[in-house]
Amino acid sequence: MEPKPNFPDANQIKETDLQHHWHPFTDTATLGKDELRLITHAKGSYIWDSEGNPVLDGMAGLWCVNVGYGRDEIVDAVAAQMRDLPYYNTFFKSTHAPVAALAEKIASTTPGDLNRIFFNTSGSDSNDSMLRTVRTYWESMGKPEKRVIITRKNAYHGSTVAGVSLGGMAGMQAQGGPMVPDIAHIDQPYWYEEGGDMDPAEFGLARAKLLEEEIDRIGEEKVAAFFAEPIQGAGGVIIPPETYWPEINRICKERDILLITDEVICGFGRLGEWFGAIHYGLEPDMMTMAKGLSSGYLPIGALAVSDKIARQIFENAGEYVHGYTYSGHPACCAAALKNIEIIEREGLVDRTRTHTGPLFHDKLQTLADHPMVGEVRSVGLMAAIELVADKSSRKRFDNVGEVGTKCRDKCFENGLIMRAVRDTMVISPPLVITDGEIGELVEKAWKSIDQAWQEIG
Ligand SMILES: Cc1ncc(COP(=O)(O)O)c(C=O)c1O
Repeated sequence: MEPKPNFPDANQIKETDLQHHWHPFTDTATLGKDELRLITHAKGSYIWDSEGNPVLDGMAGLWCVNVGYGRDEIVDAVAAQMRDLPYYNTFFKSTHAPVAALAEKIASTTPGDLNRIFFNTSGSDSNDSMLRTVRTYWESMGKPEKRVIITRKNAYHGSTVAGVSLGGMAGMQAQGGPMVPDIAHIDQPYWYEEGGDMDPAEFGLARAKLLEEEIDRIGEEKVAAFFAEPIQGAGGVIIPPETYWPEINRICKERDILLITDEVICGFGRLGEWFGAIHYGLEPDMMTMAKGLSSGYLPIGALAVSDKIARQIFENAGEYVHGYTYSGHPACCAAALKNIEIIEREGLVDRTRTHTGPLFHDKLQTLADHPMVGEVRSVGLMAAIELVADKSSRKRFDNVGEVGTKCRDKCFENGLIMRAVRDTMVISPPLVITDGEIGELVEKAWKSIDQAWQEIG
């Protein structure tokens, strides 16, 4: 695909943007026009900027464009739905065809008996719904004091007040508080950063046991749930040691604590299974999802709830006074249905597990030969590259974040999107990435890492 020939004046658009648009997650005071990237169009695994440069999108947007860009089928499905019924709500005993079909479809892909689907518009509000639903469940059981949700430090669960409270990002929690009460955070299973001299298996067990200690500290009668991403994404693609999830699962089962996974990134094939919980052999009591549910074509999120919990709430809590104007929006459901149809038809989940995931893993490992790369890890099509000052001791650079930012900027100059989490580079390309594009991604990553390394001397 070529650059758009009649693209309106890029300079003017940037000026207008800088004057009126408040960007999320941006230091607006220092944002300069030269830094602003104007994205004009996209196809497959590539986006184009206003200078006509193709850029390989190693992040699938924000970890979401699983089926890749330019899917006319999704556009057509949405247009047809918009003509028939552009909007109607799902409150007060109303429904429509796409929301019923999508709920059934999601239920068919989830593990265990997660057959009841509540719709939202994003990952953040799906996590809000999760919080309210967990507490409503225990209230309906006659245990209103069982309301503490245990999550992890450095987890990302969204940007609403509940999302930030559930998440463990200290910088986010420092703005706009106070946070939602009765949420506790335990240490994360980040072996590379925090494992010290322990071997990974031992460290994974130790970090899982923190959950048991926290339950004892708070009192089991007060703890409602443990909530976590199967693999922390925005925290730095933190793949827990193999010992971690089985132990967490055991603790939740033995201690009458709900186990809930945030599948906003890990869901819809990213790890080579429909959900991260399936990859780790878990049957959670609830799961939240968004992003890959529609591959980002339209905003939609969902909370999947087990039959047991849903029945308990339905029979004992009366009307559930919760929902959004756009819960189950018909056009968003149509986009999600077509997206899932594409994932199934093209076998993208299996392809990630059996072909692209292993190829990506092997090619990425070549980066470990670089003097600044301390570790490369991946599951499916989700990966991290640790940049360090000293490989053998896993010592970081003194000015944390400097080399990561430099490497991210070099990537963009070299035609690749890779994101930096402090000095950890994270990658999460569209699931349609080809073998050739995987080779290109790794080549550009090496070049960018090397240039960043040369520059910091
Ligand atoms: C694991 C996880 N949960 C929740 C969210 C929030 O989703 P959204 O940005 O759609 O509100 C994100 C977003 O990156 C996420 O990565």
